[in-house]
Amino acid sequence: MEQKPQNPVRQETEVLLSVVFPTFNERGNVAELVKRLDSTLSAVAWEAIFVDDNSPDGTADAVKAMAQRDPRVRCLRRVGRRGLAGACIEGMLSSSAPFVAVMDADLQHDERVLPAMLAKLQSGDCDLVAATRYVEGGSAGSFSKKRGKISRLATLITRHVLGTSLSDPMSGFFMMRRDVFDGMVGRLSPVGFKILIDIATAGEGLRIAEQPFSFGTRQEGESKFNVQIGVEFLGLLLSKLSRGLVDPRFIFFAIVGAIGIAVNLAVLKVSLLAWPLSFELAKSVATLFSMVSNFLLNNSLTYRDRRLRGFGLLRGFIGFCLFGAVGAITDIGLASQLYGDHEVWWVAGLAGSVMGVLWNYAMSSMFIWRTR
Ligand code: GDD
Ligand code: MN
Repeated sequence: MEQKPQNPVRQETEVLLSVVFPTFNERGNVAELVKRLDSTLSAVAWEAIFVDDNSPDGTADAVKAMAQRDPRVRCLRRVGRRGLAGACIEGMLSSSAPFVAVMDADLQHDERVLPAMLAKLQSGDCDLVAATRYVEGGSAGSFSKKRGKISRLATLITRHVLGTSLSDPMSGFFMMRRDVFDGMVGRLSPVGFKILIDIATAGEGLRIAEQPFSFGTRQEGESKFNVQIGVEFLGLLLSKLSRGLVDPRFIFFAIVGAIGIAVNLAVLKVSLLAWPLSFELAKSVATLFSMVSNFLLNNSLTYRDRRLRGFGLLRGFIGFCLFGAVGAITDIGLASQLYGDHEVWWVAGLAGSVMGVLWNYAMSSMFIWRTR
């Protein structure tokens, strides 16, 4: 029988849908995920993109072992970085398909709604479909009571603050047109956990549809949700409120600074009780305490994705203090000069402090917690 000539470039298997799975310690789930995609998306040309932040459990190895046998599976391994939002963004950026989905890799997001989401996008009536737990037909049943409360509270705040119509803005499960994503990616923040809110509020006139699903129970591994992620989320909200003018990272830096002032005053009060005669000694102790607490808080919050450890932590702290000292000199110098020129004490004082904070932030970002 004569063989039909085949064009190697245009095949029927042009990928229609990329499914991005951010992973951190999900080794036990990845094979099952691919199996489930395979059976749910039997009528669709799909690919799975796993974005792994160098999980210590060897998730990347497990994915690559699959990828060797199955060209629909790909692994993007990121080293020296952490963060859900950034992982999702990079995964989507690596797609060439017209549609991209993002979902958790722990089997909590029900993959069986993917075909319905795809159909909604293909109808051309919307740019993004958010899978939601809070509309008719959806459920957040498997969340613990406490986590459920936190999630609902965050949802309420978000809806009011951002004025988004999304019924479940906290969801990390959605599908969208890739061209729309590509157009807005420059405005997205890689910091934090809540990529969907960021996307939904980044584009004017984005047409959003919803797809109910029920949130499953995690089978393998554990959730990475924690207090820090909650605080990071606040930063994202504030940044959105400033219409993206202020970087979320700077907001954390400023919050940490404000906490530092409180620490400083509290320690000063206690130290004055201990050394009533020496204000200088008491104030020095207070300043040391607030430097340490500022440094550690910035390390685990503001620069969480570039966290310093071990010897790097010590070196970072020394640098932080040195830059801080230069910042203080800048602050005092500018304030004194302005005061000399205009004699309005608070304008001079405030301008000095703002300069000092900006200096410290710039130096911290560029030199102490620089990207490797
Ligand atoms: N690459 C990468 N880097 N992946 C990560 C990271 C990270 O730093 N942190 C978490 N992940 C992956 C997990 O491996 C999982 O696939 C997915 O992101 C969600 O993380 P979980 O730890 O399972 O989060 P959760 O179940 O507590 O949170 C879920 O509910 C939220 C709604 O309140 C997620 O669906 C969130 O996306 C959702 O917003
Ligand atoms: Mn989960």
